[in-house]
Amino acid sequence: MNAQGATGHLFLEMNEGPKVREALADGAVLLRAFALDGEAGLRTAIERIGSRAPFRHMTTPGGYRMSVAMTNCGRFGWVTDRRGYRYEPMDPDSGCPWPSMPAVFLDLAERAAREAGYAGFVPDACLINRYEPGARLSLHQDLNEEDFDAPIVSVSLGLPATFLFGGEDRVDRARRIRVLHGDVAVWGGPSRLFFHGVAPLKDGDHNVMGRQRINLTLRRAR
Ligand code: SIN
Ligand code: FE2
Repeated sequence: MNAQGATGHLFLEMNEGPKVREALADGAVLLRAFALDGEAGLRTAIERIGSRAPFRHMTTPGGYRMSVAMTNCGRFGWVTDRRGYRYEPMDPDSGCPWPSMPAVFLDLAERAAREAGYAGFVPDACLINRYEPGARLSLHQDLNEEDFDAPIVSVSLGLPATFLFGGEDRVDRARRIRVLHGDVAVWGGPSRLFFHGVAPLKDGDHNVMGRQRINLTLRRAR
């Protein structure tokens, strides 16, 4: 929003609930503020994961350095390098398994998926994306999972971002959805392979996350 409130005060773009759901497409829903309760527990878990598997800028198969910094937790982690996009059980930087999936991630993912109509979701991989001002993620499909029956659960924390949600073809017009701290998007079923991305992050200072946006995407890789 970033607008003048009724009182004349400039108010921050903040997620204050109430929890509402917005349909994004057939099979895709945005659960506003769904992760707000318990967000401190998510932040503690992200700090632990980042201390064991530091965020890094991976390289695309075409040789570009990604502007988003990434790490993972769970049995598998999503990686990219000159050899391609894939899931790996080990962190290539350390040679060690990725940090385990925190119970708070599993619980949030299961509840959000159920709320979106996908009961019984048990993710085995969580990609953690860190966007600093200017970082972006171009339109892509999540295609590296073994089967597409399970949905994707995507949790936004920190600075507001513009989430792009398109269709089954790259050229389909993408909706631009403002996502705030605590919002959770879920897509599966008929929209499981829809193109999506994130517009370049605008600078700002979030009251608990500072100058960054963190996104968790919980997936079933195998
Ligand atoms: C992703 O597609 O992996 C991340 C999407 C986001 O950061 O909202
Ligand atoms: Fe994605």
